[in-house]
Amino acid sequence: MDEIRKGLENVIALETKIAYIDGMQGILKYRGHDINDLVNLSYDAVSYLLLRGNLPDDKELEVYSDQLKKERAISEDVLNVLTFCNFNIEAMDALRTAISYISHCDPDMDDNSSEANIRKGMRMIASFPTIVAAFYRIKSGQVPLEPDLNMSQGAYFLYMIRGTEATETEAEIIEKDFILSAEHELNPSTFATRLATSTLSDVYSAVIAGLCTLKGPLHGGARMEVMEMLDEVKSPERAGSYVADKIENHDRLMGFGHRVYKTYDPRGLIYKDLAREIADEKGNSIWFDIAESIEKAAFKEFVENKGKTIYPNVDFYSAVVYKYLEIPPRLATAVFAIGRISGWIAHCLEQYSDNRVIRPRAKFVEI
Ligand code: CMC
Repeated sequence: MDEIRKGLENVIALETKIAYIDGMQGILKYRGHDINDLVNLSYDAVSYLLLRGNLPDDKELEVYSDQLKKERAISEDVLNVLTFCNFNIEAMDALRTAISYISHCDPDMDDNSSEANIRKGMRMIASFPTIVAAFYRIKSGQVPLEPDLNMSQGAYFLYMIRGTEATETEAEIIEKDFILSAEHELNPSTFATRLATSTLSDVYSAVIAGLCTLKGPLHGGARMEVMEMLDEVKSPERAGSYVADKIENHDRLMGFGHRVYKTYDPRGLIYKDLAREIADEKGNSIWFDIAESIEKAAFKEFVENKGKTIYPNVDFYSAVVYKYLEIPPRLATAVFAIGRISGWIAHCLEQYSDNRVIRPRAKFVEI
C-alpha cells in the first residue's frame, strides 16, 4: 500500500489482447502481428484488426472500407463549429471541439452496446481526417472540400488538405504513418480513454479524454516540437551544438527517450526509412540530414558519454516525414490522432467488456 511508483512506472494496471511491447528488444505487435508486417497493409485493414480482433479477408475489408468511406462527410453544422474556432489554436483543439459537438448529434449516443460503439468508433475513424483538413482549410482562408469516397485513408487526408492528389509515395507514406500511430498499449492517452471508459462514460467522452492527453509535449505533442526543432537547427552542422546546449541546460531533447523502450523504438526505425524514402523522392535531403545529425549527436551524448538508454522515439522521424509532406506543425498532433483513434476505440471496447472502475489511491502527506 505504501509503495509509490511515480508516473506509475512498470505498474501492470490491466490485461490486454490489443498490443504487445518488448521494450528491451524493440518489438511491437498489434493483436499478435508485428508492426513491420502491419505497415505493409492498408490503414483500414489495421483498424479492422484493432476493432474486431482479427485481420479481415478480402470481402470483409471491402465491406468495412465502404462503410468507412460513407462516414467521411461532416455536416454543415460541424463546418460552422470549425469556423467559430480561434484560428491560432492547434488543429488538435479544433478536433476536440468538433468531436464534442458531433457526439451531441450521433443517433447511437445513448446506446452503449458493443456494435453501437463500433459504429461510433468507425464514424470517428472516417471523419477525423475530414475535420482536421476542413479546419486547416478554413483557417488558411480556403474552402473545405467535398469528401472523396474512393481514396485510401492516407491519400484522402492529403487530398482534403491540399485540393490536389498526393503522389503514390506520399500517399503510401502517410498511410503507414497512420498505421504506426494507431496503437501503443497503455500510453498516457490510451490510459486516459480507458480511465474514462471505466466509469461507464460514453465512447466520445473517452476519446475526448484521449485527445486532451495526446496533446501534451511529453506525449503526442512532441511531434510538433520536433518539427520546430528541425527549423531551429537549420543545418546539419549546427546539430552538435544544439544537442550539447540542450543537455547543458537540462532541457528535454524532443523526440528522444521512452518510458518503455530501452532500445530503438521499432516504429522509429520504420519512420527513419520512410523519411529517407520521401527525401529521395523530393530530391531534398536537408530535413533528413539535420535529423540524422541530431540523432548522431544525441547518441554520443546520451548513450556513449552518459550510458543512458535514450534513443529516438516514434515522434522523431515522423516529424521529418511531416516536414516533407508539408504538414504544418500545428496540425502534427491532430495527424497523430487520425492514426491513434482506432487504438483508442479498441481499448474502449476491451474496457467495457471486462470493466472495473479504475481508481488508484494516493498517500496523504502532512503539510
Ligand atoms: N532529453 C533529455 N533527457 C532525457 C530525455 C530527453 N528527451 N528523456 C529522458 N531523459 C533523461 C531524464 O532527464 C532522466 O535523467 P536522470 O535520470 O539523470 O534524471 C532520465 O532520462 C529518465 O527520464 P524520465 O523523465 O524519468 O523518463 P520518463 O520515462 O518519465 O519519461 C519521456 C519518458 C518520453 C516523457 C521522456 O523521455 C521525455 O520527456 N522525452 C521527450 C519528449 C518526447 O519525445 N515525448 C514523446 C514520447 S514517446 C511517444 C509518445 O508518447 O507520443
